[in-house]
Parts: sequence; C-alpha cells; structure tokens
Amino acid sequence: MKVIRDPQKLGRLIKEVKRKGKSVGFVPTMGALHAGHLSLIKEARKENDFVAASIFVNPAQFGPAEDLKKYPRPLKNDLLLCRKQKVDLVFLPDQQAMYPQGFVTYVNVEELSNRLCGLSRPGHFRGVATVVAKLLNLIGPDRLYLGQKDAQQAIIVQRMVKDLNFPVKLRVLPTVRQEGGLALSSRNVYLNASQKPQATVLFKALSLARSLIDQGQTNAERIIRRMKELIARKKEARIDYVAIVDLEKLNPVKKIDQDCLICLAVKIGKTRLIDNLVITHEKN
Ligand code: PAJ
Repeated sequence: MKVIRDPQKLGRLIKEVKRKGKSVGFVPTMGALHAGHLSLIKEARKENDFVAASIFVNPAQFGPAEDLKKYPRPLKNDLLLCRKQKVDLVFLPDQQAMYPQGFVTYVNVEELSNRLCGLSRPGHFRGVATVVAKLLNLIGPDRLYLGQKDAQQAIIVQRMVKDLNFPVKLRVLPTVRQEGGLALSSRNVYLNASQKPQATVLFKALSLARSLIDQGQTNAERIIRRMKELIARKKEARIDYVAIVDLEKLNPVKKIDQDCLICLAVKIGKTRLIDNLVITHEKN
C-alpha cells in the first residue's frame, strides 16, 4: 500500500495506473475509520482494479465553533485498517497541500446546501463540495463511494458531479449501525457512558416513523411530531431538525406519497448526531 502526501506525486502514480487500463475506485474520508468507512472500502475493492482512499480532516467544512481541532486522528490505526482491506493507495495531504496560500476558489451547490444540516452549519457543504471536487480532479476515479449516513452530502455531491460533468459514477452505500441502531460515526467517541444509550433515540425515532408509515400514516407533520415527542424524552437530547423531504431538491413533503428522505440532527450533550431513512413508495 502506498501512502502519498504530495499531490504531484499522486498525479504521477494515478497516471501510471490509468495507463495500465485499471479501473479506479475512490473512498474519501476524514479518518478515524470505522466499519462504516470499511464497508465503502470493501465495496470499492470488489468493484475496481485499484482502490484509493483519502484521509484529510478538511478545515473548509468545519465552522469556527466546530470540532476541527479535537476531531479524532488515529492515523496509525487508520493506515493499518486500510492495509488490511487491501487499499492500494492512501492519499494523506496536509492543509498546505490542499489549500496553499492564495486559495480562493470554492464550489457551491446552491439551494441544496443551505437547508437541513446547512442551516446550522453554514459553509459546511461548500467545504465538502470543494474538497470532493479537488479530490476527484486529483484522483480521477471511475467510481466514487459515499455513505447514505450523510444523505444530504451524497445528494449534494451527486448534483455537483452532474452539474460540473465529473466523469465518475457515484455509489451510495447503506448506513452501518451498531447494536441498538446507532449509526457508526467518528464523532460517537465524544459520547460518554450515559449519553451512548440516549444516542440510540435517533434510530428509534426513524423506526417509529417507519412503523407509522407501515400502519398507513401519510401525514408528514404528524410523523415529525411523534418523532420529536420521542426524542424530547431523552434528558440530554436537543433537536436541531427533524424533516421529511424529497430526494432531489430536499424540499419538505406534506404527504408520504412519493419516495422521500426522513432525516434528523440531534445534539446529545455537545455532540451533534445525524441519521436518516429513505422511504420508497410502492406504486400499485
Ligand atoms: P467521513 O465522515 O470520514 O465519512 C467518509 C465516508 O464514510 C462518507 O461518505 C460517509 O457518508 C461514510 N460513512 C460515515 N459513517 C458511515 C456509516 N455509519 N455507514 C456507512 N457509511 C458511513 O463524510 C466525510 O468524511 C467528509 O465530508 C468527506 C466526504 C471525506 C469530505 O471531506
């Protein structure tokens, strides 16, 4: 496995890989790898001749009051995990390599970026879209692997890929959860022992929504109200948003009569967690 920090060196290696006609799968991450990340890497390994991953805690997607400094960086273990999954290349740039002095160009996926998570994290998706665009340009993969866990991110990247004609196929893979339903996240390490069980309330709220829909409930507002009531029972839970939106424009839906995304962000203590569920509407 090659670990490369220099974008120019990366360019040379990728060129060589492509010259040999190999297909390239790419998994971007911020490190602190867990089974969610590994599921993306495993799928990339299955579907491509060459697998590249990146580990870069991207400052452009963190707000000034966010956890950039304390974001976990267990690099040694991350590299070990990548090696175990037979990753061919880990791109490990530093801030200077990605945002050298004078950097002023950003990618802004309008409309989709300033709702849901974008409301409480202004500039976040601009940072995500910019770094993903840069990484796609540097690596030029055939396939890009993202997790459904970050549904809005996946929808925004899909839009960017289409709008800016990136020649890449986006693969979005299911959310990996731990027992009790909590979606794996690098930020789960911030939760203390009493917060961990409370954090399962996100999945419980989504499960409640699903069972209400299964029972015939189609009124989005009622479903959201029931989800909020459930979450409010947890002592340290503070709701950021609970929403039911369409999958393309992320506009709120009133009635569950189309495919939609049920998504939520909840703070457990100081830790902001997100989760979501896609509802596919069967047409009879
Ligand atoms: P990060 O949070 O490290 O996540 C990297 C990828 O892993 C993302 O596509 C994310 O959706 C996926 N992922 C995280 N938790 C998952 C889970 N429980 N199940 C399945 N997939 C999961 O998302 C980012 O980094 C960054 O924004 C990035 C795209 C790398 C740009 O900086």
